[in-house]
Amino acid sequence: MRPGYTPNSNTTRVVILTADAEFDRSARAAFGASNAIELIMVSGRLAELGDTLEVAGAAVVVVDLDAGRPEEMAALARLTTRAGQWPPVVAVTQGFDENVARTLMQMRVADFLVKPIEPIDLVRACARIGKGSGSGKGAMDAQIHTFLPAVGGAGVTTLAVQTAMILLNSGGSRTKPSTCLVDLDFQHGAVADYLDLEPRLNLAEIEPQPDRFDRQLLEVMLSYHSSGLAVVAAPNRPAEMRSFDPDVVTRLLDLVSTNFQYVVFDMPRTWFSWTDSVLLGSNSLYIVSEATVPGLRHAKHLVAAIKERLADGPQPKVIVNRFQQRMFSSGLRRADVQKALGDAFASAIPNDYALVREAIDRGVPLDEVKSGNKITAELKKLVLESTAAKAREGKPASLTQKLKLATAR
Ligand SMILES: Nc1ncnc2c1ncn2[C@@H]1O[C@H](COP(=O)(O)OP(=O)(O)OP(=O)(O)O)[C@@H](O)[C@H]1O
Ligand SMILES: [Mg+2]
Repeated sequence: MRPGYTPNSNTTRVVILTADAEFDRSARAAFGASNAIELIMVSGRLAELGDTLEVAGAAVVVVDLDAGRPEEMAALARLTTRAGQWPPVVAVTQGFDENVARTLMQMRVADFLVKPIEPIDLVRACARIGKGSGSGKGAMDAQIHTFLPAVGGAGVTTLAVQTAMILLNSGGSRTKPSTCLVDLDFQHGAVADYLDLEPRLNLAEIEPQPDRFDRQLLEVMLSYHSSGLAVVAAPNRPAEMRSFDPDVVTRLLDLVSTNFQYVVFDMPRTWFSWTDSVLLGSNSLYIVSEATVPGLRHAKHLVAAIKERLADGPQPKVIVNRFQQRMFSSGLRRADVQKALGDAFASAIPNDYALVREAIDRGVPLDEVKSGNKITAELKKLVLESTAAKAREGKPASLTQKLKLATAR
């Protein structure tokens, strides 16, 4: 669901790396003339180019390698690890060898083909792999989770960081879904600080020419956490109160949602001209508040305002952070919170200042400080449930249909 976005292309990207002129020709013949396929041919050997091969946004990556050379197999292993669950990687080899086949399976390549390969077989293999991906536009249509504050300091950044970590680790033990955390609080953003990263987004450089902002430039402006989480964050400009051109921000949203499976937005308190687009494009919208009467009141107002303003958008839900169950004191109890918020209540996240503090000071996720902690557990329940529900919702046109177009010429 991304009605606020304007996808700049409606094609499916297939990336093919080969050093073999004959295979290059046959691949171009298979895909080249279709408008529905954006074919990116990379000329060269996997061992040399594999580590820098652009895979983000591709629906399928095909690599032609010399399986007899250990450095080529090692490069393939690095590539499949980097690609994670998406995009699928197809290996093309010179000849069939049982041991090689077994190794390729272990590396989790989606398929392998042995030369010589008929163009039609290449298209069929790619179509079969793309099938069921739910992705008619490459990896487009990320699942987007957006966090916005009801009051200052409620914990938006903390919960956005933890949610991104949960999504990143949701793919099982061997695969990590590509996940990007975007700090849209350009003035006071703290995401890079909380994760101890160098912020690399330079909006001022993009602003004069938003059209120049493409995948390559995005790659340059991403910071990577050691966990594999991609982060978009700009250096803070506390003294500079200005809004950026909405086109630049929408372009950024478009790029991240095209290139990642999961995207998490950390929103500022101020409502900018681009805020509506972000909210409309989100799958889940969480308003973060605290368990105080004014906090809940603000949250309720915000829920009502968003529902009125963006009637077609996702339903905003309230997370009450730093919640403390008080048996014998006068603080708000869970039942009070639930009553105050009604249907909009999503979750109460426990208060654990020492844990959160240590995670921030060390620049690591909460789970690394204390595995199985209650904050992560509560958030996991909420986020993974909503992710599963969204996954059950309809899937867009499949890659197979587009590849059929390619062969129907
Ligand atoms: N569940 C929690 N338990 C205890 N402390 C928490 C919890 N969540 C956040 N905090 C603490 O609350 C403070 C504010 O958190 P955070 O920076 O995430 O909030 P924010 O809403 O992003 O703030 P800002 O309005 O400044 O952007 C931090 O000191 C953080 O350590
Ligand atoms: Mg913040």
